[in-house]
Amino acid sequence: MKKIRTKKNWITEHLRDEYVQKAQQDGYRSRAAYKFLQINAQYKLVKPSHRVVDLGSAPGSWCQAISSLLSQAGEIYAIDLLPMDPVKKTTFIQGDFRDPNILSFLEKIIEKDPVDLVISDMAPNISGNKVRDQALINDLNEITLDFVQDWLKPKGNFVVKSFMGGGFDEFVIKLKKHFKRVIIKKPDSSRDRSAEIFLIGLEKL
Ligand SMILES: C[S@@+](CC[C@H](N)C(=O)[O-])C[C@H]1O[C@@H](n2cnc3c(N)ncnc32)[C@H](O)[C@@H]1O
Repeated sequence: MKKIRTKKNWITEHLRDEYVQKAQQDGYRSRAAYKFLQINAQYKLVKPSHRVVDLGSAPGSWCQAISSLLSQAGEIYAIDLLPMDPVKKTTFIQGDFRDPNILSFLEKIIEKDPVDLVISDMAPNISGNKVRDQALINDLNEITLDFVQDWLKPKGNFVVKSFMGGGFDEFVIKLKKHFKRVIIKKPDSSRDRSAEIFLIGLEKL
């Protein structure tokens, strides 16, 4: 009974949410679009000719938001465990980013040229066990940082979702070794009750 009530509360809250309504009006697949748009409005991360890697891209609202800012030369390479409907200027790979075969497939598509921007909104399915969930996102982000070291251009930028918990501070310290500036940001569109927080690495060293 309690579970049914909680689900009903979530649906009511979701329908009243201003960003859910705005996403419907603006044609975005998810309210998540505004998290990236708010970060980008402040830090001007996307330039028209950029090549962007989007990790954890489905259903595709970050890809939608970015593709509308790109010129003919710009491209997005996106990965998700789940399927994703096509988005303009986007090459999509369905698979697990942690799988070495998927990673080498992505590397082949990037064609040996480092990219301008890497963004990750990847998150494990929230189990409710905070220690487990934190450990899973920390692992994902370590692998993502390895990718960034190999494939992000010098002076390129990086956005990665994390949770505020064990290992977070250590990850920030690590990021600071690779970027000129590291910013911790909770966009207005990120729900207060969500533990998510974004780290922005500006100008890879
Ligand atoms: C919050 S959603 C991303 C929303 C997306 N940024 C958007 O705007 O539509 C997180 C996504 O990360 C994906 N994900 C989680 N772990 C992953 C992994 N190991 N490899 C690839 N995708 C992963 C999930 O399948 C999920 O679709």
